Amino acid sequence: MFPFACVATLTFALASLPPAAALIVPGHHNPGAAVVPSWTQFLRAHNDARSAVGLPPVTWNWTLELDAMQYANKLRVPCKLSPMRWTTDGVYGRNLYWASGHHSAAHAVAAWVGERRWYDHRANACAPGKTTCGEYTQVVWNTTRELGCGRRTCQNGLDTVAVCDYFPPGNYVGVLPY
Ligand SMILES: *[C@@H]1O[C@H](CO)[C@@H](O)[C@H](O)[C@H]1NC(C)=O
Ligand SMILES: *[C@@H]1O[C@H](CO)[C@@H](O)[C@H](O)[C@H]1NC(C)=O
Repeated sequence: MFPFACVATLTFALASLPPAAALIVPGHHNPGAAVVPSWTQFLRAHNDARSAVGLPPVTWNWTLELDAMQYANKLRVPCKLSPMRWTTDGVYGRNLYWASGHHSAAHAVAAWVGERRWYDHRANACAPGKTTCGEYTQVVWNTTRELGCGRRTCQNGLDTVAVCDYFPPGNYVGVLPY
């Protein structure tokens, strides 16, 4: 899928379950747009992967989008998959993406969802020797309801970073995503 690109991804595991939270669903749209906007690409790709395993869709949240955008704005400077200390760590789940070259939001989510082939649902673990299927499990975390993401070209003008925030967060150790 990415013949010329080097791709790297990173997610965050959480130690314990958070308290229940009330959720409100935002809505916005962009009728007649010739180019599918990034937020729509992010949202559709997540909900396609979720419906494939029988999960309800997530909705777009502008608060999460702003947070993810700010994270991506920092990440684009070193242009590396180096997690930063962030005020919403632990409050939101978070997936990170870096790839050489220019890539769409849909490509970033495809890289995360592509980890599905390494995810063993019965064992709730990545395949032996594969340490990265956690981005996929965050995408298909049943109780996650809201999504906000940002994609930026790196400061070098060449490469791409993307960040998605998830609420409520997933990837609790020892808990099945779905
Ligand atoms: C978006 O998420 C924030 C943070 O979790 C939450 O406080 C807010 O109510 C949500 N907004 C909408 C419109 O759902
Ligand atoms: C998701 O969670 C709900 C509520 O706990 C449950 O009823 C449903 O079966 C779950 N869906 C999947 C696919 O695990």
